[in-house]
Amino acid sequence: MRWLGGVGAALAGAALIASSPIGAVAPGDELPDGEGRKILMASCTSCHDLSEVTKLRGFYTRAQWRDVVVTMKEYGAEVDEKQVDVLADYLAQNLGKKPASVQTQTSEKLSFEVASIKAHPAGEVAYSIGPSGNRFTATNVPLRLLVQFAVRSVINRMYLDTQIIGGPQWINVDRFDVQAKAEAGARTVSVDQMFRMTQALLEDRFQLKTHRETRDAPVYALVQVKTGSKMTLSPDQTPIARSNERVIFDPKAPQRRGSLIPLRSSEGSIRLSGVAVPMPIVVNTLQGYVDRPVIDFTDLKGLFDFRVEFVRPALIAEPGSSQQTAPLPDPAGPQLFTAIQEQLGLKLEPRTAPVEVLVVDHAEHPTED
Ligand code: HEC
Repeated sequence: MRWLGGVGAALAGAALIASSPIGAVAPGDELPDGEGRKILMASCTSCHDLSEVTKLRGFYTRAQWRDVVVTMKEYGAEVDEKQVDVLADYLAQNLGKKPASVQTQTSEKLSFEVASIKAHPAGEVAYSIGPSGNRFTATNVPLRLLVQFAVRSVINRMYLDTQIIGGPQWINVDRFDVQAKAEAGARTVSVDQMFRMTQALLEDRFQLKTHRETRDAPVYALVQVKTGSKMTLSPDQTPIARSNERVIFDPKAPQRRGSLIPLRSSEGSIRLSGVAVPMPIVVNTLQGYVDRPVIDFTDLKGLFDFRVEFVRPALIAEPGSSQQTAPLPDPAGPQLFTAIQEQLGLKLEPRTAPVEVLVVDHAEHPTED
């Protein structure tokens, strides 16, 4: 059987982690003194430097900053319950999202240098969307898909289709072509920056306004089977660092710690292979193969070496794939639900739970150029 690397998964935000030097100088000097700064310095600099935090200046509300801190706690940041709120207050106050009217110039350039948006003639089915180097292009996509691509939940998670609600009906129907380019000669922009620039473009040209809300909705609860999970703790529990490098599959090189890579066989099965990954990455990856939000109820802590093999669901496109492709013939093998139960001792249970949704409050047809 031949296995191919799934580079597209990086788009789903699953495989963006790679190791980089730990302990680089923290650029926290722009942050004022206070209890919050002390906690940041003590608990948030072991895996990545503070530029990972300050780069998000102006992007998150207090609630979103709190979600970031809670997620980091799951990754292994040492903060207690009280510190979570102290930090959330501090980050909201010093790096929080301000109303558009008082937003000041941020250090990061967040808009494309040139961008063109045009209506696409109706009737065609094939579409594509994605970043490439300094460019972002989308062909024959509805605004809804652009929103899904660009507006991320905290830690860059993509909202599922079912998590985007509201807005006028045309956002699902009318198709657009978008071509945008970041500043000429700029360093290659990161995938993160591309999301933010695209979001800014939508806010500017479609007058897009969105907000996040929590609603009860069908989810899959990830739980351990009664006899306990068969997840393998990685022998090396050194915290993983964060880097924007894209994980490219190289069959000859040892897989990087913190990466979880999907491989496709020529027969159409999928193998997820992770080295030293924390549960949020496992959950985010499984998320790509099911149609409801996955919420972690396993209580598993630490970094895991992870492998599971299953048959690709017939109708769900591979996560992150930007092109529609013809379905492969049905290969033999267990479906995801059976596979994780047998191979990992984990179960995806249908339940109802509060989930975050993105509400489209306002959108207008773009001004054509
Ligand atoms: C145990 C290692 C570790 C510690 C400690 C840690 N982080 Fe992280 N952090 C990560 C990793 C790994 C990522 C990349 C997450 C991803 O993309 O799934 C990350 C990403 C981030 C991001 C980027 C989110 C985005 O949307 O791009 C922010 C902000 C952040 N961390 C803030 C913090 C704060 C605040 C603290 C302290 C409370 C902290 N981190 C402590 C490992 C850590």
